[in-house]
Amino acid sequence: MDDVSTGVSTVAGRPAAGASMPGDVSAGDVSRIAERLMHEALAAAADASLGGMPAQPQAVPAMPAVMPAPPVGLPPSFAPPAAPVGPAAAPPTDLSGLRTFIGRIRGLDHRQLPPVLGAAAPSSGPHAIGGGAGGLSPAGFFDVEAVRRDFPILREKVHGRPLAWFDNAATTQKPQAVIDALSAFYAHDNSNIHRGAHSLAARATDAYERARRIVADFLGAAGPDEIIFVRGCTEGINLVANVCGAGLGGGDEIVLTELEHHANIVPWQMVAERTGAVIRVAPIDDRGEVILEAYERLLGPRTRIVSLSHASNSLGTILPVELMTRLAKARGARVVVDGAQSVSHFPVNVAAIGADFYVFSGHKIFGPTGIGAVHATMESQRSLPPWQGGGNMIRDVTFARTTYADPPAKFEAGTPNIADAIGLGAALEYVTGLGRERVAAYEHGLLEHATARLAAIDGLRLVGTAAHKVGVLSFVLPGRDPLEIGRLLDREGIAVRAGHHCAQPSLRHFGLEATVRPSLAIYNTRDEIDRLADVVGRIARGRL
Ligand SMILES: Cc1ncc(COP(=O)(O)O)c(C=O)c1O
Repeated sequence: MDDVSTGVSTVAGRPAAGASMPGDVSAGDVSRIAERLMHEALAAAADASLGGMPAQPQAVPAMPAVMPAPPVGLPPSFAPPAAPVGPAAAPPTDLSGLRTFIGRIRGLDHRQLPPVLGAAAPSSGPHAIGGGAGGLSPAGFFDVEAVRRDFPILREKVHGRPLAWFDNAATTQKPQAVIDALSAFYAHDNSNIHRGAHSLAARATDAYERARRIVADFLGAAGPDEIIFVRGCTEGINLVANVCGAGLGGGDEIVLTELEHHANIVPWQMVAERTGAVIRVAPIDDRGEVILEAYERLLGPRTRIVSLSHASNSLGTILPVELMTRLAKARGARVVVDGAQSVSHFPVNVAAIGADFYVFSGHKIFGPTGIGAVHATMESQRSLPPWQGGGNMIRDVTFARTTYADPPAKFEAGTPNIADAIGLGAALEYVTGLGRERVAAYEHGLLEHATARLAAIDGLRLVGTAAHKVGVLSFVLPGRDPLEIGRLLDREGIAVRAGHHCAQPSLRHFGLEATVRPSLAIYNTRDEIDRLADVVGRIARGRL
C-alpha cells in the first residue's frame, strides 16, 4: 500500500472502531453466560432439594467417547469439533461458585469458550437442540434465544405478528455488534484511508486492514494480502471474470454448472462474447446434484476456467467443491468458487478447497450490504492484470506510464467501502464467537425439521433434495402461484422469497419458473418453522 500511516489504534484511551480487545468479553456475552449459569445452578439446586439428585456435574450429558459421523446434509469435510478441555469446562457446582466462575469467564476470549458451557442445558424443549434428530449435538448446545436477542430487528412485528425471517438466502439480519461497529466508525473514526498523516486516517486504516485480517482468518487464507474487498459477490465475480477473461481467446472454454446464480453466469457470457470463448454447463440430476461424471467429461484441454457455486441459492445443494477443484486444476484450469451461500452456514477453508478465487457477500453473513470479499491466491493476483483503474491501486503515475501497487491494492481502485468492511469484520467475529461448527449443526437440525414438516403437507413438492444441503427449501403447491403464497405468508408475519431466485436455469431443470423459498439462519427456531408449516398447510388445504 502507498504512504500508509499506521500504528495509532487508540485516541484518548478509546479503541478505534473494530480494534481488538484481547482477552475481553463483551457485556452481552457475560450477561448471556451469567444468565445461562444462573439458570443451570438454580435448576441443579432445585433438583437437589426436590429429588436428592446431585447438583451436577453428573447432570451434564457426557460427550461421546467416539464422535459420531457428521450428520447427513453437512459437507463431507465437516467434522464436529473434539470435546473441549480447559479450565472453564467445568460448570459451577453450586451458587456460591457462580461468581468465581463468571469472573473466570470474564478473563477469557469469548471465541475460546468451550461448547460445554451450554451443554448442561436441558436437552428437551424447542430450542435446546444442537443438531440432528434432537438432543445435544456433538458440537454443543446452541442457545438460539440468546442469539435472537442480539438481532434487534427480530423484535419487529409484521401485520401484528412476530417477524419470522426466512429470507436469509437473499439477505441476513444484522446483530447489534455490526450496527454498533458501523455507527462507532462514523461517530469516532471516519476518514479516508491509506493516505493522510493524521490520526483519524491512521485509525480508519488500521480498522480497515484489521477487517481484512479477520476475513483472511475466517476463510483460512494464507494471509490478509489474499483478500480483496469488493462490493459483494456479484462485483467479485465480475472482477474475476474481467481479469481472467483478458487472457481468453476464441474456442477457450469456461465451465459452469446448471445450479449457478445469474451472478455466476452473466459475467462469463459477457466475457465469452468479447473473446469468443465457449461456455459449457455441467448438468444436475433430479435431486439437484451436479452429475460428476458429466462434469468430468466436460473438462478438457481447452478448459481455462471453472466457476461454480459452493452452495446453490435456489435448491440448497452443497457442491463437492474440493473434488471439483482438484479435477479442474488437474487440467490446468483456473477455478472460481462462489461462496455466497456457504460461508454463513458452515466452516469454509479456502486452502483446503484449493481454488484460485473464492468470493462472498457480507450481507449474507450478517454484515452490511455493499461489501464482500474475493479470496485470491497471490499467484493469481500477481499474474493477472488489474480491473478498474484509479487512486489507491497505483505505485506511480506519469502520462507516459503507470505502475501498479502490490496486491491486493492493485485490485482496489478508489476509495473503498471502509465502514462496511469494518462492519463485515464485526459480523465475522460474531459468527466465529458463536462457533461455526455449532452454527452448522444447529442449522442442520432446523433443515431436517423443516424438510420433514413441509414434506408432510399433502401435494407439496419439494424441489432440491440433495444429500448435502444448506438450509434452503424450495417448494411449489399445485395450482397456487408462488408469489401468492409469499403474500399469504407475509400476512402472518413470515418472510420468504418467491420467484426465480436469480437462478432460472436451475429451476427450469424442474420445469419451473418460480418456487417459494424459505431459507434458514442461526436465529430461526423450530417454533417459527412450525408456524411456517402450519400456514403452508392451510394454504395447501385451500383454507387461505
Ligand atoms: C449463489 C449466489 N451467488 C451470487 C449471489 C449474488 O450476491 P450479491 O447480490 O450479494 O452480489 C447470490 C445472491 O443471492 C447467490 O445466492
